Amino acid sequence: SRPIGVAVLGMGNVGTEVVRILTQNAADLRARIGAPLVLRGVAVRDASRAREGVDPALLTDDPHSLVARDDVDMVVELIGGIEPARALIKTALESGKSVVTANKALIAAHSGELAKAAEDNRVDLYFEAAVAGAIPVIRPLTQSLAGDSVNRVAGIVNGTTNYILSEMDETGAGYGKVLAEAGRLGYAEADPTADVEGYDAASKAAILASIAFHSRVTASDVYREGITKITSKDLEAAKKFDCTVKLLAICERIQTADGEKISARVYPALVPLEHPLATVNGAFNAVAVEAENAGRLMFYGQGAGGAPTASAVLGDLVMAARNRVYHGRGPLESTYASLPIASIDEV
Ligand code: NDP
Ligand code: HSE
Repeated sequence: SRPIGVAVLGMGNVGTEVVRILTQNAADLRARIGAPLVLRGVAVRDASRAREGVDPALLTDDPHSLVARDDVDMVVELIGGIEPARALIKTALESGKSVVTANKALIAAHSGELAKAAEDNRVDLYFEAAVAGAIPVIRPLTQSLAGDSVNRVAGIVNGTTNYILSEMDETGAGYGKVLAEAGRLGYAEADPTADVEGYDAASKAAILASIAFHSRVTASDVYREGITKITSKDLEAAKKFDCTVKLLAICERIQTADGEKISARVYPALVPLEHPLATVNGAFNAVAVEAENAGRLMFYGQGAGGAPTASAVLGDLVMAARNRVYHGRGPLESTYASLPIASIDEV
C-alpha cells in the first residue's frame, strides 16, 4: 500500500519518544500495518532549536500548515492544552485525517465536538494515552467490555501526584523537591498545578466515566481535591492507622431516589496498607473496573513518562493506520509473522 504520511505536533516529553519509536521501529510498524508510516513533519514552538533524533528539515513552528499538507494522512497531537490543539485536531478531522492525541484536558472538555467531526468525516480519533499513560484502559472499556455493563471505575490515574506522595512517604523528602523531580522525569504537566490540584485526574475521571457509562461527563462535573494540603505529618499519621495516602479517582453509577446517577470524584484518601492500591508507587497507575458480568478487572502499569505514553500513542497510530489500509480489519497474519520466534526455553 502507499505510504501513510504522519504529522507529529509537539516534540516534548512524549513527542520525542513517539518520533524515536516511529524511526527505530519503522520496519516492524510497516509489517504490522501493511504500509510504511512516513514522518512528514514535526511542529514545535521553537523550530530553530536542534532536536536529537529528527532531521532539522522536518521541524516547523507552523502546525496549521503542516496539518493542511496533502501528504499528511494522520496527525498526532502532543502539544497539550486547549488551543491551538483543539483547532488543529478539528481541522485535521474535517480534512479526512485520523487523529491520535494524549491530551486529556482537551478530550475531557471537547470530546463531543471532536467525536462528531471524526464521525462526520469517517476517520478515527483515538486517545488511549490520555488516561493512565501506557496502561490500556480506553480500548478495554470501549471494545473488550462493549457488551457488558460497567458500574464502577476507580483507581490512581495521576503519576505525578502518586510519585510525590510515595516519595514523601518512603524517603521523607519535601514536597517541593519531589515535585521538581517529577517535572525533571517528564511526568508532570507543563503547568504542574494541573497535577497537584487534581485537575488532570479530574479530566481523566471525566473521560473514564463518559466511556464506561456511555454518558457525557466533563471535568467540571467531577468533584475535585488535590494533594497540596497533604504534609509529611499526614503521611506519618496515616502509617499509625496502617494506611497510606493516595489520590484516588472514583467513577460509579449510584442509585438515588430520583433514579440512577453518575458520581465522579477525585480526592486524596487513606488507603489500608493491605489494599492493592497501597502498593502502587512512583509514577505507576492502577485502574480497577467492575462490570456486571466480567466482575472485577485490574489494570496496572506506568501512568506517566515519555516512553510509556509514547507506547500508547503508537498503539493508536497503528490501529488508525490499519483502519485506513484494511478498513478496520488489520493484517493479522503479518502481525504474527513479524514476531521474533522464541525457542521454548526462552518463553
Ligand atoms: P511538553 O510540554 O513536554 O511538550 C509540548 C511540546 O509542544 C513541545 O515540543 C512544544 O514545543 C510544543 N508546543 C507547544 N505549543 C506549541 C504550539 N503552539 N505550536 C507547536 N508546538 C507547540 O508536553 P508533554 O510531552 O509532557 O505532553 C504532551 C501531551 O501529552 C499533553 O497533552 C499531556 O497532557 C499529555 N500526556 C503527557 C504525559 C507525560 O507523562 N508527560 C502522559 C500522558 C499524556 P517546544 O519544544 O519548542 O517548547
Ligand atoms: N501529568 C500526568 C501524570 C501525565 O502525572 O499522570 C500522564 O497523564
